[in-house]
Amino acid sequence: MKNIDSFGHVRGESLFVDDITTLQGTLYGVTFDSPKAHGTIKNIDYSTAESLEGVVKIFTYKDILGENQIGGIIPDEPLWAEGEVHFIGQPIAFIVATSEAIAKKSRALITIEIDEKPVITTAKEAKEKGSFINAPRSFKLGNTTTSFSNCKYVIEGETFSNGQEHLYLETQGCYAIPMENGNIKITSSTQGPTSVQKTVAKVLGVSMHKIEVDVIRLGGGFGGKEDQATPWAVMAAVAVQNLKKPVKYILNRHDDLRMTGKRHPYESTFKIGLSKELKIQAFEVEFLQNSGAAADLSPAIAERTLFHATNSYFIPNVTTTVHSCKTNLPPNTAFRGFGGPQGMFVIEAAIAKAAEEIGVNKKKIQELNLLSENDEFSYGQIATQVEIKNSWTSAKSNFNSAKLEEEIVNFNNKNAQYKKGLSFMPITFGISFTNTPMNHARALIHIYQDGSVGVSTGAVEMGQSVNTKMLQVASETLGISTSKVKLETTNTTRVANTSPTAASATADLNGKAVLKACNSLIDRLTTVASALLAVDKDVIEFKNNMIYANQQQTSLTWEKVVEQAMFERVALSENAHYATPIIHFDKSKEKGHPFAYHVYGTAITIVTVDCLRGTYEIDAVKIVHDFGKSMNIGIDVGQVEGALVQGIGWMTLEEISYNEQGQLLSNALSTYKVPDVFSAPKTIEVLPLKTLGNEQAIFKSKAVGEPPLMYGIGAYFAIQNAVKEFNPNYQLKFDAPFTPEKVLMGLYEE
Ligand code: MTE
Ligand code: HPA
Ligand code: MOS
Repeated sequence: MKNIDSFGHVRGESLFVDDITTLQGTLYGVTFDSPKAHGTIKNIDYSTAESLEGVVKIFTYKDILGENQIGGIIPDEPLWAEGEVHFIGQPIAFIVATSEAIAKKSRALITIEIDEKPVITTAKEAKEKGSFINAPRSFKLGNTTTSFSNCKYVIEGETFSNGQEHLYLETQGCYAIPMENGNIKITSSTQGPTSVQKTVAKVLGVSMHKIEVDVIRLGGGFGGKEDQATPWAVMAAVAVQNLKKPVKYILNRHDDLRMTGKRHPYESTFKIGLSKELKIQAFEVEFLQNSGAAADLSPAIAERTLFHATNSYFIPNVTTTVHSCKTNLPPNTAFRGFGGPQGMFVIEAAIAKAAEEIGVNKKKIQELNLLSENDEFSYGQIATQVEIKNSWTSAKSNFNSAKLEEEIVNFNNKNAQYKKGLSFMPITFGISFTNTPMNHARALIHIYQDGSVGVSTGAVEMGQSVNTKMLQVASETLGISTSKVKLETTNTTRVANTSPTAASATADLNGKAVLKACNSLIDRLTTVASALLAVDKDVIEFKNNMIYANQQQTSLTWEKVVEQAMFERVALSENAHYATPIIHFDKSKEKGHPFAYHVYGTAITIVTVDCLRGTYEIDAVKIVHDFGKSMNIGIDVGQVEGALVQGIGWMTLEEISYNEQGQLLSNALSTYKVPDVFSAPKTIEVLPLKTLGNEQAIFKSKAVGEPPLMYGIGAYFAIQNAVKEFNPNYQLKFDAPFTPEKVLMGLYEE
């Protein structure tokens, strides 16, 4: 089944926030943000800006009736700055005018004086100065101290991985309208409608039931709208509360790039110990997460870094520590993989460095240390239904990696200017919100009396096709064609108290709720059908829009049963709740069973480096991926391809750059390079691994949204291998992204 939005998208008919027909009298907002990264506000002069014709009001913290606080995990972030500013782009005021152009013009007329304070832009500097978001976290397994002394090889090193801009096609935005009795309805481009509702209520000083949040779909989120869609909606809502007029606020690309956080840059140091047989015995790592100026989701992201610090390997002695370092950058936030990629990059770097120093192929160490059934992760979960070795050997055999490697050797022998490199990248990614209480969802299903069906869930459609999957679950469970089922918008009045659409778990959580609701409805309708057909309930089945009895199709249609149920006053609506069983985690011990299951896979990446220019091409990425039993292979392969290219972009091209004053230099697409059709791999092959799937996954179809991003890490090491081929003096560096400039330096370093 195709994505149900595909026709609407290509015809430009799908609705996004900016497409909503605006009401008469709609006003437009724009943010005035800090021009300095750190300091005390001495004076702001709004007078000229305010007197511009068409400017209705300029809002500041003084206009807030509730709390000036939007921090989700830690209350450390004001909506609008009061006395101090902590990053360039920090919102200070909100200008509301009769047009966006006037609001922008007004913004340019505001003058501000700031007493500047020292600016911190790197995590290392923050750590040196003791500037942290919260206390560090550590996971421990075995005893690293004693085990290093028993290792034949001990290797240390450091890594850096840069941030990444989400670059959702649809920028942040919302449209808020006043309803009766002080109620407000907000259409928001958010992954977390409930967070928006909750934070708006808090800042406005009203109850949550006065705020309705509706989400049609997002033009991409990638984590960037898990938390950071909220402030704009809150600003618009404050204005609506005050002015009682509709307020629309869509950020332009420059404002969005400057004011929003990105993937967290990480600076890390590692120590890895191996036995004579190349078994990894011990691994220690200290992660410095550049959190930016406020917590946002940083503590949760830091936690997931620890969960994935050993990637797909079993290591008996592990000590990992993460510091969330407070800097004067926009608060960094969720981005596909949620700290996992940053963790995995470090262990892959450690293995690469160990291989180099020992003088063996990296692949050999990787292969020897892959997880086995019943191995323990550093957080206490025991690995079960482990597919990592299967995916690895399947990638080797299906893609004939021995031959690929031989071809590369031949190519490199024959070519002086061009060198090829190959890498293996295994991934093991845990599915569930690491914060156990977030793993729940609800669905509300209406069967209308004509037999058509409306499905509401807490899932937000953002291109990952969750709506298509929800529709599949409903139509399959009810035994009716997909054309009879409609996915409603995601709305807090229909499905409340939702977790954000994140952690790749949306289809599982919401899908299980849809399944439960549909099963309850089918149970009721079976009673009706059994009476109509005068057969036992347990011989009845609903399929192909018909009722079957004893596997024989009867003449009874779906519509007829629904009509009869209506006549008999049987409830045709159902609300179901699902909470993931088996998961738990004890933060005081840093042990538990946080994940419902893991997703596995292996990617082989082949690149060609132009050793004159330092440029490179990704020739091919060949992947064996564990989909479980995919319920929609077209959609799932699309997720693998998209995530892979996004991961390659993070590792190779996308270079976020702030200067020492905390100013974003890569503030446009002319200075920030994302993968395009030329830099994407020339071929991507994705083979599904044959597995039984997992009971916790909806229809045993495993979560797919984030895990494949980490295949992109393979590109870094493939390029590194090619550089080594050209320049034997090249000293391994782990400084991502591996841009052509860095490649060129590496090719010619002495
Ligand atoms: N795919 C598209 N097209 N657009 C997106 O914004 N977000 C990713 C992933 N795939 C995203 C996407 C992220 S960060 C997550 S967590 C998952 O989708 C969320 O959706 P899921 O839980 O339904 O997989
Ligand atoms: N993943 C993604 N988003 C989240 C998580 C997580 O584990 N926890 C809170 N938000
Ligand atoms: Mo995805 S980073 O969990 O929104």
